[in-house]
Amino acid sequence: MYKNQQIAKNIYYAGVNDRQKTKFENLHPLPYGVSYNSYLIVDEKIALVETVDACFGDEFIDKIQSQIANRPIDYLIVNHMEPDHSGSIRQLRLHYPDVTIVGNAKTLSMIEGYYGMTNNVLEVKDGDTLSLGTHELQFHLTPMVHWPETMMTYDTTEKVLFSGDAFGCFGALNGAVLDTEMNLSPYWDEMIRYYANIVGKYGSPVQKALEKLSGIRIDTICSTHGPVWTKHIPEVVSIYDKLSRYEHLDEGVVIVYGSMYGNTERMAEATAQGLAQAGVKNIIVHNASKSDPSVILRDIFKYNGLIIGSPTYSNELYPEIDSLLKKIEIRGIKNRTFGYFGSFTWAGAAVKRLTAFAEQMKWETAPIVPEEKQGLKPEAYNKCIELGEKIASMLKKA
Ligand code: FEO
Repeated sequence: MYKNQQIAKNIYYAGVNDRQKTKFENLHPLPYGVSYNSYLIVDEKIALVETVDACFGDEFIDKIQSQIANRPIDYLIVNHMEPDHSGSIRQLRLHYPDVTIVGNAKTLSMIEGYYGMTNNVLEVKDGDTLSLGTHELQFHLTPMVHWPETMMTYDTTEKVLFSGDAFGCFGALNGAVLDTEMNLSPYWDEMIRYYANIVGKYGSPVQKALEKLSGIRIDTICSTHGPVWTKHIPEVVSIYDKLSRYEHLDEGVVIVYGSMYGNTERMAEATAQGLAQAGVKNIIVHNASKSDPSVILRDIFKYNGLIIGSPTYSNELYPEIDSLLKKIEIRGIKNRTFGYFGSFTWAGAAVKRLTAFAEQMKWETAPIVPEEKQGLKPEAYNKCIELGEKIASMLKKA
């Protein structure tokens, strides 16, 4: 029944869209859904690259059978074991009991751990090749992008890279699969949000993987999420390269604040005004209790300036700000121009905690630190404006 889209000669899309889950990993909202991409290489031997989330196993099997009718699948290539991709392996084995599962040593250990399978597996090492007839597959181990077993499979015949999660993004595929056949505008920010939240901690392994792939001619990138990249490969690789170096993609300042009763919020407003007066155009203001953390992190990866404000809460930071700082620390985000401010009612703790955070991150930090006791008064208000102006001047010099 299904007419699967052709990606390259004898390579077909067999993935599915998930428009049902509200949150990826039960954490990150999916306003545009997400796709779980899988690919069939139909040659003398048939290889399937990845499966899909277990919830979509039936649709997935139907798509495969629509393409290859009664032919068997010879190989299942597993580049990444996270269950959004490996979740239908058991179902695939029920329909194709003789399929050989291809992965590296870490993959095969996870196949046993997750699914109890040890038979009919083929372990590959870095650089190994596998011939399907006309197509030859070469395996490149790229560990910790973003799990230990992650690898990429390169079709040397058609110059297609099956990259696992790398170069992926949130957003279901709305009819078309190839980047040249769709409006890409919703995907770019979703790529940054995906990277910041899923891969963001692993900048160094991503850099190693990019270096490893740099000598290979790649005409098509088949990621496990989002569009198949052809014409836009340079932009996509550049985005992943910059993000994994913790380089900003755009000039601008993100202000994130927590506020219970609006007093710290007024400090954020004044700081934003200071930035605007000093000529900053991209000013993104997030109320940490309202904006989703995945979106806040996306913007922190995207822009070069960051200002954080927090009231003191139970002699600590405001909980949503505390949680955000942890996320930033875990990802080891580098090279941001930073400012902060805080408030308290009877004993100040927020500014002290933010000072310690700034020292730990080793970011260039503004020397102006507005702090207010109780309601916002002119002195602290003016200092917030000065903080915005100072950050703007620091960014101009950077
Ligand atoms: Fe899309 Fe790391 O799984």
